[in-house]
Amino acid sequence: MSHILQHFPDSASLTEAVAKRWHEALVQRGSGRPFTVALSGGRTPKALYKAFAAIAGVGRLDNVHFFWGDERMVPPSDEDSNYKLAAVPLFLALKISETQIHRVLTERGEEFAVKQAESEICRMAELNASGQPVLDLVFLGMGEDGHVASLFPDDQEAIESQAVYRVVTGPKPPSLRITLGYPALAAAREVWVLASGEGKKKALKTSLAAEGDTPLARVLQSRENTVIFTDFVLE
Ligand code: 6PG
Repeated sequence: MSHILQHFPDSASLTEAVAKRWHEALVQRGSGRPFTVALSGGRTPKALYKAFAAIAGVGRLDNVHFFWGDERMVPPSDEDSNYKLAAVPLFLALKISETQIHRVLTERGEEFAVKQAESEICRMAELNASGQPVLDLVFLGMGEDGHVASLFPDDQEAIESQAVYRVVTGPKPPSLRITLGYPALAAAREVWVLASGEGKKKALKTSLAAEGDTPLARVLQSRENTVIFTDFVLE
């Protein structure tokens, strides 16, 4: 388990730095295969999408394919939709083709949506020996309880599941969600965690401890390299 902790003075400089690093990763990517990225939800990503769109420029993202680390089971037009969060500041702003956006089809109901999301991500990403998609980059936010994606504390089923995506009823509203499982987060080439806001300090500190048992701690312990971006100082 190893991680890199990058501290920034405020959320604006955090999102600016992440946007620049994302752009660099895309400029340096090979051209031979799709670059697969899983977006997160919550409040933090909106500023990131705007900062990234300002840097990336239209027409530079061919063969980049967008998925979600988790999605709320709401219509894509709903204010709570993680797809909607990206639709204007990222996809419309950069004129991303629909063929590159692999939205979770929440309007089809959770059982269909989870199967379809898994089929799409496994179609576009390389698979590891366990059949998990090896995503190039996964963005994660972190909740005040240390949850990431829609992997919440005390969810034993999530810990035991080998599913790529699963349906979950979580404590954070809207409660019915679809989420990547721990194995896919472990398999990804890069995982970047955006932990923004003083309210996250305690959960991050707990997650970084060797005996940490939050969902973020489990992700960190399953991977060799995770980058965590924060805008607060851990005492
Ligand atoms: C979601 C998430 C969730 C989110 C964190 C942080 O769909 O709710 O993906 O994991 O990233 O709760 O949310 P904020 O960025 O709003 O603090």
